[in-house]
Amino acid sequence: MATIESVLHETRLFAPNDSFVSQANLLNEEACQALCREAEKDYLGFWGKLAQEHIQWHKPFTRVLDESNYPCFKWFDDGELNVSFNCLDRNLEANSDKIAIIFEADDGKVTRATYRDLHLQVCQFANGLRSLNIKKGDRLIIYMPMSIEAVVAMQACARIGAIHSVVFGGFSAKSLHERIVDTAAVAVITADEQRRGGKGIALKPVVDKAIEMGGGDSIKSVVIYKRTGQNIQWHNSRDVWWHDLVIDKSDYCEPEWVNAEHPLFILYTSGSTGKPKGIQHSSAGYLLGTMVSMKWIFDYKPTDIFWCTADVGWITGHSYVAYGPLAMGATQIVFEGVPTYPDAGRFWKIIQDHKITTFYTAPTAIRSLIKLGSELPREYDLSSLRLLGSVGEPINPEAWMWYYNVVGQSRCPIVDTWWQTETGCHMIAPVPGVRPLKPGSCTFPLPGIMAAIVDEAGHEVENGKGGLLVIKRPFPSLARTIWGNPERFRKTYFPDDLGGKYYLSGDSANCDLDGYFWIMGRIDDVLNISGHRLGTMEIESALVANHLVAEAAVVGKPHEIKGEVIVAFVVLKDACPQGEDAKKIAAELRNWVSKEIGPIAKPEEIRFGDNLPKTRSGKIMRRLLRAIARGEQITQDVSTLENPAILEQLKQSMA
Ligand code: WT7
Repeated sequence: MATIESVLHETRLFAPNDSFVSQANLLNEEACQALCREAEKDYLGFWGKLAQEHIQWHKPFTRVLDESNYPCFKWFDDGELNVSFNCLDRNLEANSDKIAIIFEADDGKVTRATYRDLHLQVCQFANGLRSLNIKKGDRLIIYMPMSIEAVVAMQACARIGAIHSVVFGGFSAKSLHERIVDTAAVAVITADEQRRGGKGIALKPVVDKAIEMGGGDSIKSVVIYKRTGQNIQWHNSRDVWWHDLVIDKSDYCEPEWVNAEHPLFILYTSGSTGKPKGIQHSSAGYLLGTMVSMKWIFDYKPTDIFWCTADVGWITGHSYVAYGPLAMGATQIVFEGVPTYPDAGRFWKIIQDHKITTFYTAPTAIRSLIKLGSELPREYDLSSLRLLGSVGEPINPEAWMWYYNVVGQSRCPIVDTWWQTETGCHMIAPVPGVRPLKPGSCTFPLPGIMAAIVDEAGHEVENGKGGLLVIKRPFPSLARTIWGNPERFRKTYFPDDLGGKYYLSGDSANCDLDGYFWIMGRIDDVLNISGHRLGTMEIESALVANHLVAEAAVVGKPHEIKGEVIVAFVVLKDACPQGEDAKKIAAELRNWVSKEIGPIAKPEEIRFGDNLPKTRSGKIMRRLLRAIARGEQITQDVSTLENPAILEQLKQSMA
């Protein structure tokens, strides 16, 4: 059975520094190992105990796991709770005056909400939703800018047992329409506009368009938060201002006590083909996952100022903005704007101004900030930082080194967290302060997460060989199903050829001889060069390790003899090269890769551009690059593309 070859040779090792170790939540290797052993020995006991310790139950559970409805597993399913109660009411006693959210607007204006404020806002808004006759189990679409109100809307849904589906504010009317129809939502919560990078971007008109596309009749109400005061068209039959809805509402809202398995939310992920999947999460299992990962991986302390830069439209913004930090009673930043406005120092300024301790962002942001000003962070006081995090894509070792040295000033561990919309919380990530870090490796599975690498028949491969990344046992935060399509859920994530037992992540990975996990890319993107199967990440990382290169993406193109050859799309730190210059640099880079990882990985062709095609969440869309490399028409849906203009440039490019 074919495995995937690993060709990256990364040998740098970064031991945790003593000052971090002495205060770490999971003190040391022994404590961490003890937890892992506990999970091995008594899996259900392990998770049951954590669920008792972390969640405030309205009615305690007596059963930990019910597998009878495989693969839609049920956890703690005879228990009752309310997620919003766990995030807010629980913090009122000791923390009512503690700041829950520091909101920094696009224009720099700062608004603070304490736990008491947030509780009040959520209660009033939840009462408002009830007054619109919205009930437990109803679906609501949230189409909002990053704001305290977006978090309030999510928490208010949780409070009354309604199921939210947040749609990223940059998505089109068509995407919104699809999600309204698929969930048969009864309401949309939106804003007149959002502000990003000094500009106003309309939201409410997009909602109107989506509803009027047909099939949107399930929508009875549209609640509008007035963000900018921009004129909007008004529909008397369904529109209501947020401020009018809450004005006469009581400051307390009795939580709807729901079963542990009650759906908390649906979040659509595009997947590489086909219709977006409505990933459905549970209440208790999901909440537990966000809490233990806050504690173990973010080493959360009550004194932290936490900043996850993700939009609430992504799972990262659910788990590490809307739920996890609040459940832990944390103080966090919610930022409306973009990293480049008013200038490329914005992130560093926010860290300095608010004395951020924990900073969590995506490799795409890191790479673009390197390109925009690799020395810029040094102009700011970043001494409050104690921990850095990365999520969304493999972080290339050279980007890791920059993040570590320049942003973290060689003081802060980096937690490279591997997980997915479907897993709800971190799956493979370093417990900081415990083991040495390797740049580019997400290190080890969390205690209680049984990750493994297998071949196509489901057999575990030996360390050093690449294969399919799976999780061998169900875990509490795993998605329960695809909304309205349990069959697709089973086929996609629990395919028969793996014995139907393991959760299939869709990523390729390898485990090195020290047991560290390395994500190699998506399985669909694996290259096949003269019979060698190679992941995309390692070749891209070799390119990014060259001092000229800011970003790179590699794809395969059919070749008569070799099966496939590698075409690399490269963005340089300097301007896009032309003519002879481009030829010279391309030759240099081809040789560089050949030297760095071997002739087998040498790109046949290198093309330069000002940027790469990316999804709205910053992931490189290799399937589009594949079409360009092959000279094919792009027939795929490009509506989720952040920067469509780049496709033309890349089509023209030939070094
Ligand atoms: C896919 C999941 C997880 C929240 C944001 C993305 C890739 C994610 C890492 C990482 C290497 C990573 C994987 C995964 N990915 N984190 N630390 N190292 N790859 O959620 O949109 O569901 O995407 O993102 O390919 O399968 P998502």
